[in-house]
Amino acid sequence: MYKMSLMPLYTAEAIQEMVQILSEKIARNYKFDVVVGLLTGSFVFASDLCRHFPNKKIKVHFIKASSYGDATESSGKLNISLADDLDITGKKVLLVDDILDTGLTLQEMVKFLQEKGAAEVRSCVLLEKRARRKANIKADFVGFSIEDGFVVGYGLDCAGEYRTMPDIWTLENEN
Ligand code: IMP
Ligand code: MG
Repeated sequence: MYKMSLMPLYTAEAIQEMVQILSEKIARNYKFDVVVGLLTGSFVFASDLCRHFPNKKIKVHFIKASSYGDATESSGKLNISLADDLDITGKKVLLVDDILDTGLTLQEMVKFLQEKGAAEVRSCVLLEKRARRKANIKADFVGFSIEDGFVVGYGLDCAGEYRTMPDIWTLENEN
């Protein structure tokens, strides 16, 4: 069983500041056409991030990518769905996910979007855990780097729970 840390790891205010910094950095460095957000974890981050971009013509698409069962360990196999009507041929894509852990999700997704005909794919994650990287991949835009640990809130879940919390918390082992 897990319990939440006593204090948030990142408060809603700290997250909003980071979202603002990231969006400005992205807008300055990458002229893209479409945001592809990964459900379900990035639904909060992607929607906050999107609202800072000055380009009004950016399109938004969400794809479902899931590798987690009910555990805090990745199953290593990625299921991709909701991508049937995704049209990104010749488009520059900003791929948005909540957290980069082993890197398998991002690696598979970049490959998938390139195969779908994207002209360019760059990625943005709110958080990254460097300690557990398995795939040789980096996100182009990263918010917070954390130690190994399991975090929830602001879209991130454990077995589907905790997503709606505005702050980010660490889950700790109860024993
Ligand atoms: P990766 O494929 O191992 O890089 O895992 C990326 C996916 O695993 C993310 O999209 C998250 O949904 C999930 N994930 C990884 N670490 C955490 C965590 O600490 N909390 C919640 N979800 C996580
Ligand atoms: Mg996810």
